[in-house]
Order: sequence, then structure tokens, then C-alpha cells
Amino acid sequence: MRSLIDILELSTAEIDELIDVAKDIIADPKKYSEKCHGKTLATLFFEPSTRTRLSFEAAMYGLGGNVLGFASSDSSSAAKGESVADTVRVVSGYADIIAMRHPKEGAPLVASMHALVPIINAGDGGHNHPTQTLTDLLTISREKGRFNDLTIGLCGDLKFGRTVHSIIGAMSRYDNVKFVLISPEELKIPGYIKQDVLDKNNIEYVETRSLEDAIPELDILYMTRVQRERFFNEDDYIRLKDTYILNAKKLEKAKSDLSILHPLPRVNEIAVEVDSDPRACYFEQALNGKFIRMALILKLLGVE
Ligand code: NCD
Repeated sequence: MRSLIDILELSTAEIDELIDVAKDIIADPKKYSEKCHGKTLATLFFEPSTRTRLSFEAAMYGLGGNVLGFASSDSSSAAKGESVADTVRVVSGYADIIAMRHPKEGAPLVASMHALVPIINAGDGGHNHPTQTLTDLLTISREKGRFNDLTIGLCGDLKFGRTVHSIIGAMSRYDNVKFVLISPEELKIPGYIKQDVLDKNNIEYVETRSLEDAIPELDILYMTRVQRERFFNEDDYIRLKDTYILNAKKLEKAKSDLSILHPLPRVNEIAVEVDSDPRACYFEQALNGKFIRMALILKLLGVE
């Protein structure tokens, strides 16, 4: 039995396989519509979500399976003080696979040690978000046709942004990938990611404050929201929240084949006028999330 807690638990060959299956699902969804007949997915979301939870649910329905779960911790027994270990042990009796989001870093890992069915980390605090990264990789594959030879700008909240941490890990395994880390001083990438991922793998990266200076060299621009819920005080959030706003003017100097990604939800960091730019990929990216999660569910349930 296999869970997915960290994106690096999947080899690059397995990621290629998942992407191939996702593309096949896109081409012929009917072929997959009964693959999970009689199977149940539980979505245990102790933290808010729109895309991740609904795309997991849409994915399971698209495979002909069933879904149960809860969408907030106050509607579950967590509000009564139940531990994650007990919750997943019980839910293991009701479901064949569990997708879990939790505000505490490491909670899905703990869950995987107590569950009797596979656990998928659907985001743990400011740590990791492996299925968002699979979504991002499918999007990059469809947009660029390669994972090598890319200059990737990551912009916004690199400190608390779990999607950023996971995508850096995943992309660090390909050749000639360069990162441009764009953030204010207070929201720089954590030291452990620099040491354990970037330096350890000899990945080229620069840190900058300026989106304008960085934009011309980028193949991919990954915008992120400032993670309000992880701040200790609201004043800091208010001061930092609008540091970056991508608009048509800033995009004038970008490559014509730039791909603009964002895990969503967007707050202010991409002006709505950018949505009609052919380089904007974030709504397609959200749709890709359903297909790659279908592929992942099939893999973890061992369905042919
Ligand atoms: C992201 C998350 O939850 O980390 N959202 C998502 O899953 N698509 C990004 C965010 O909330 O900013």
C-alpha cells in the first residue's frame, strides 16, 4: 500500500507515467468512467479549499467511484479533540483511499502511519502540496512539451507557499532548470529548501525582489498568493499582500511563449486583464488538476 505525502516519493519515470495516463484520460474520458466502480474516496479537509477538494471529488466521480468526507475541521470530530490518527483509522473502514488537507505540517504523514488505506497529502500547512505539483507538471508538459531547459520564476510568498516548495523539489530533478525566486525579504524561500534541495542538487538560482527585472528571461512565471492564514499578525499581511501585481504592462517585456501559472485562488497578484493573454495558463491548470488526480487515484488503488 502506497501513500503520497511528498512529491519526491514519485520517481521521474512514475511522474511521466501519471502524465501519460492523464493525457489519455483527456483524450478518451469514457474509457476510464467505470474504472473505480465500487471504490470510495474520502476527502478529509481540515482547512479551506475549493479546487483541490472539488477536483479530487470530480476525479473520483469521473472514474465511477463514490465520495464522502468533510470540508472543514469544525464540521468533524477534530472540533471535539479527536486526533488525526484516530480519525483516519476510523475512516479507513469507510473508504478505499483518503485525500487529506491539514493546517499542521506533517499531519498527512502521521495519518499515513495510522491509516489502513493510502493517504494523499492535499496540502499540509506551509510545507508541501504534491498533487498541486502534479497539476503544475501536467500543465508544463502540455504547454512546453519538456521539463528540461527551463527558467522558472516563482513569485510572491515563497516562505509559506507550500505549492512553491513542492514544485522546486520536483523540478530540481531535471536538467538545466534555473529558478528565479522573486519575493520581498520577509517572504524569501526557507533556508532548508535552499540547502536540502537547491544547493544539494547544484541547481542554479537567484533571489530578487524585482518582478520587472526578472520577467524577460522567464519561460514559466509561477505567481502565488500571500498566505494570509500563516501570518502571525494581520499588519504584516496587509503591508506585504500587494507587493506584486502582474498586469499587461509588466508582461510587455516577457517572452512571447511565457507560460503564466498560479495554483489559485488569486487575490490581487494577477490583474484580471491578464486572463485574456494567451500566455495565461492558470484556468487550464486548474482543470488539469482533475485529470492528474484521476491518474493518481488509479495508481494508488492499483487499478489497471
Ligand atoms: C494552494 C494551496 O492550498 O496551497 N491552493 C490550491 O490548492 N490550489 C495555493 C493557495 O492557497 O494559495
